Amino acid sequence: MTETKIYGHRGCMGTYPENTLLGFNQAIQQGVDGLEFDVHMTKDGEIVVIHDERLERTTDGKGFIKDLTLEEIKQYSAGSVFASFPNYMAEWDLERVPTLQEVLENTPPHIELNIELKTYLVEYQGIEEKVLSIVKQNGRDRNVIYSSFHLPSLLRMKRFDPTVKIAWLLNQRILHPYDYMETFQMESLHLSTKSVLANVHELKPLLQQIRVWTVNSDDEIKQLLDLHVQSIITDYPEKALFFRSER
Ligand code: G3P
Ligand code: CA
Repeated sequence: MTETKIYGHRGCMGTYPENTLLGFNQAIQQGVDGLEFDVHMTKDGEIVVIHDERLERTTDGKGFIKDLTLEEIKQYSAGSVFASFPNYMAEWDLERVPTLQEVLENTPPHIELNIELKTYLVEYQGIEEKVLSIVKQNGRDRNVIYSSFHLPSLLRMKRFDPTVKIAWLLNQRILHPYDYMETFQMESLHLSTKSVLANVHELKPLLQQIRVWTVNSDDEIKQLLDLHVQSIITDYPEKALFFRSER
């Protein structure tokens, strides 16, 4: 049976600033199989890697990504607000919100990438084409999977390029999950920990295609490793990699 892959959620957001090159590098050094991160589009059409549609929670800036240019966003620190983390060092203050291009350039080709399109709160005209084109230009299409809670965004990606891998993000149980995968030609479903652990029996035939998020407790990591799910997405990849190595 194939070994469960370990994806670092927003890098390794349990211990390092989320969605920063610093966090991604830490996760890569720890030995992750893949990185999960989120994208939005700036006022001047650049794709940036950040979770929220606004700057406030993860940077020392203010405002919506859609209302700011990349140059404006780059003025702000994406590390300083994490000063309460035990590993914090003053150099974190120099971290900036990375562009998708920077993340791709920074990531070794063997690392899988799960790019989540945050397209359900703000409308970003043309974000799907832009993301696809950046990934293609960087020759990374083979080991990228696109996910979103917003199904139309995924279907748009598939329309532009039928070969792309897509995964629908869900945090609740759905009936007949395989029918969705088949109908929409999905590579995977990305389901929440709770929705998987509460429905193991009915998901059994699909577990090796399902990525599970966000798997953080020791017990949940171990249970999902035992179930041989396709991947787990965790804030603590180092811990998950250790548990996997013990098997
Ligand atoms: O991709 C799984 C997970 O990242 C979805 O939730 O809010 O952490 O982006 P969120
Ligand atoms: Ca995400």
